[in-house]
Amino acid sequence: MIKICCIGAGYVGGPTMAMIAKQCPDVQVNVVDINETRIAAWQTDELPIYEPGLLDVVKEARGRNLFFSTDVDQGIRDADIVFVSVNTPTKTFGEGAGCASDLQYWELCARRIKEVSTSDKIIVEKSTLPVRTAEAMERVLHAGDNPVHFEVLSNPEFLAEGTAIEDLECPDRVLIGGHETATGQKALQTLAEIYATWIPRERILTTNLWSSELSKLTANAFLAQRVSSINAISALCEATGADVGEVAHAIGTDSRIGPKFLKASIGFGGSCFKKDILNLVYLCETYGLKEPADYWRQVVLMNEYQERRFVTTMLHSMFNTIANKRIAVLGFAFKADTGDTRESPAIKVCRELAAEHATLVVSDPEAMENAKLEMPELADRIEFEEDPYKAAAGAHAVAILTDWRLYKELDFQRIFDGMQKPAFLFDGRNMLDHDALFNMGFEVYSIGKGYKSHLR
Ligand code: UDX
Ligand code: UDX
Repeated sequence: MIKICCIGAGYVGGPTMAMIAKQCPDVQVNVVDINETRIAAWQTDELPIYEPGLLDVVKEARGRNLFFSTDVDQGIRDADIVFVSVNTPTKTFGEGAGCASDLQYWELCARRIKEVSTSDKIIVEKSTLPVRTAEAMERVLHAGDNPVHFEVLSNPEFLAEGTAIEDLECPDRVLIGGHETATGQKALQTLAEIYATWIPRERILTTNLWSSELSKLTANAFLAQRVSSINAISALCEATGADVGEVAHAIGTDSRIGPKFLKASIGFGGSCFKKDILNLVYLCETYGLKEPADYWRQVVLMNEYQERRFVTTMLHSMFNTIANKRIAVLGFAFKADTGDTRESPAIKVCRELAAEHATLVVSDPEAMENAKLEMPELADRIEFEEDPYKAAAGAHAVAILTDWRLYKELDFQRIFDGMQKPAFLFDGRNMLDHDALFNMGFEVYSIGKGYKSHLR
């Protein structure tokens, strides 16, 4: 029986390992993490992350061939394959601060693996890492006179939060990078076999290690670039009277462009896009490639511009003052169907509104706990209210910041009736029926469609 250990029971490690365990009853999967609370939660039906369909997958395999533990050393020792899925945040200190990846957790893992291993192992990079990280890892793993052989593979994860289970069950592709040596190719085939249990062979792509590492950064950079591109056009739409939804549809029907990732918004969030682009920028700079670095950095700058622009529009349309006005923020997660708030545009928007001395009421169906942790410094300016109707009661404005389906189904007449007048509605996700809201009496702003006002 093949034994897998995954270090890191987060948004990536947890769901990915649960899916492997579900699909491969003959493979034993041990997920280990230094965070005791997280591991304890994985053992209950209150999982530490919200992801539609995840609990069913976990329940099918948990206790059978899927185990969660804080005993990292034992997990490593027993394993034939060790996935490393620990966090690799942007560095906040020293060289490359604000841009490069902080690899300290990865290196600690490599040292631990070397320390406790008594048999040969395949080490799989699941975390997103800069190109050629595997080389550094190999040096750490093989330092000294350790007789154990480690073969490093890169197997980046492309799942998106909110659709993780579908993405894992039926991925567009699985990517595995390995060395072009006999041992490298053998390891690569061992991992490919596991995925081939449920994924068609032609979707399992194999490349050299560096291509695999770089493909992950590039995929996220391209996706984020599409969002920034349509957001750039949204500003021009507002200036010219074009409608960004119509433009996105018109260009998306060109099969060379395609319709996905063309939804204008307050900006992209999530733990990956910004971090990975900055990582790419840092890599380009490291290799002396200034123009490519500047080109990709602009995707992040455009995103920040879009977040700022939203707040500025709110301020200007509400007569240039929002001090002590009550603003209901509907949605705090970085996208729908997740409780994750990492890099959520809502954080920036709330901070800037609070800097204008607005009083905020934050509401979200799944992200309230994380939201409370994001802005401790604003505790005296923010209330939290899960019920969107209560959150909007008495408010001067409602801002929709996450595309939760339930916000489409709200009774906006009821919301309007309970608000201060004029009642402002700012749709940061372009998801509502703006004409209907305007006819109800709202002052309506939506991204890339402009401002509908009764006041002028
Ligand atoms: C992480 C990375 O952030 C991302 O770059 C990569 O692509 C996939 O892995 P995610 O799963 O979202 O993504 O991170 P997170 O939810 O923070 O989980 C990481 C886990 O690793 C945490 O539970 C943390 O406790 C654990 N960890 C970290 C260890 O077990 N050991 C360590 O030394 C460091
Ligand atoms: C992303 C990648 O999609 C995934 O392949 C990778 O493994 C991790 O990073 P994730 O961050 O979970 O996944 O979500 P994603 O659906 O890509 O959305 C990212 C952000 O872009 C969200 O804030 C979302 O609201 C925003 N977005 C997305 C838009 O504003 N418009 C769009 O058209 C699409």
